Amino acid sequence: MDRNFALEFVRVTEAAALESARLMGRGDEKAADQAAVEAMRKMLNSIQFDGTVVIGEGERDEAPMLFIGEKVGKGNGQILDLALDPLEGTTICARGGNNALSVIAIAEEGKFLHAPDVYMNKIAVGPEAKGAIDLRATPTENLRNIAKAKKTSVENLTVIILDRPRHTDLIAEVRRTGARIWLIGDGDVSAAISTCKKDGGVDVLMGSGGAPEGVIAAAALRCMGGDFQGQLIFRNEDEKSRARKMGLTDFDRIYGIHDLAQGNVMFCATGVTQGTYLNGVRFFTGGAMTHSVVMRSESGTVRMIEAEHRFETKPKY
Ligand code: FBP
Repeated sequence: MDRNFALEFVRVTEAAALESARLMGRGDEKAADQAAVEAMRKMLNSIQFDGTVVIGEGERDEAPMLFIGEKVGKGNGQILDLALDPLEGTTICARGGNNALSVIAIAEEGKFLHAPDVYMNKIAVGPEAKGAIDLRATPTENLRNIAKAKKTSVENLTVIILDRPRHTDLIAEVRRTGARIWLIGDGDVSAAISTCKKDGGVDVLMGSGGAPEGVIAAAALRCMGGDFQGQLIFRNEDEKSRARKMGLTDFDRIYGIHDLAQGNVMFCATGVTQGTYLNGVRFFTGGAMTHSVVMRSESGTVRMIEAEHRFETKPKY
């Protein structure tokens, strides 16, 4: 994959972040998401490539834009698949909370798992604990192995978990191990990424969240040298039949990081609201500052990009 795409795709997440950040705290998830989607689509279609959305806003009948299967880009050039979330953390943005992001992951054709919009049980860690996780093991065993890999004690670990009733047993078990817990309202892509930040104060993400977000997080962690496993959770026959339509047959499979995002991948994110890994958009008279990251699995380079945007010389997205 051409490394020069890095800057092209950062412009895409910057545009989506700038538009949705305008609606921070308005209490309107849909409007914020819509603003991000429109900006992202417009910017994607200005890039010279032949893209297909494989993880997007939903299936064609439920999403008017950036739906799964939608073709994006100018239509000539490199053939690439995209896993995107124009606004990851719609509720966070609507409430003005922390860690809403605009994200996009890019791979060559056929390299992302075509995940249906179901839940996924996830575990994510940073580079020091790579190889120490296993979704077949209990949370207690995983925490012991992560602590061992990090040469520390379980009590020193911080586990990030989405605050949901479905996680009651998981939270109780983690508490029994003595590990610290950070319960978050939303945003498990940002949570997964923060396990790779050296001074991020997060050691492991546990629990279930959206499967599409799992694929996006796996792409990011591939670039950062972290580790990730995911297992799809099917609550009914309808969810299974949607998975079958996407070509999945083994419903119990545990996906490793390379099963979710294979080959050379690139990942870009821009902070929408203030976060652990990225600053949110800051507006000033006549412009705004954005904070983004772009990374590639091939080189492992992680570039942080602070951009100052001047609205009088910028196109309207
Ligand atoms: P949205 O941006 O679509 O609102 O997703 C936010 C999120 O918290 C994800 O980060 C997470 O994977 C998922 O929702 C969890 O789903 P649920 O809110 O149903 O537990």
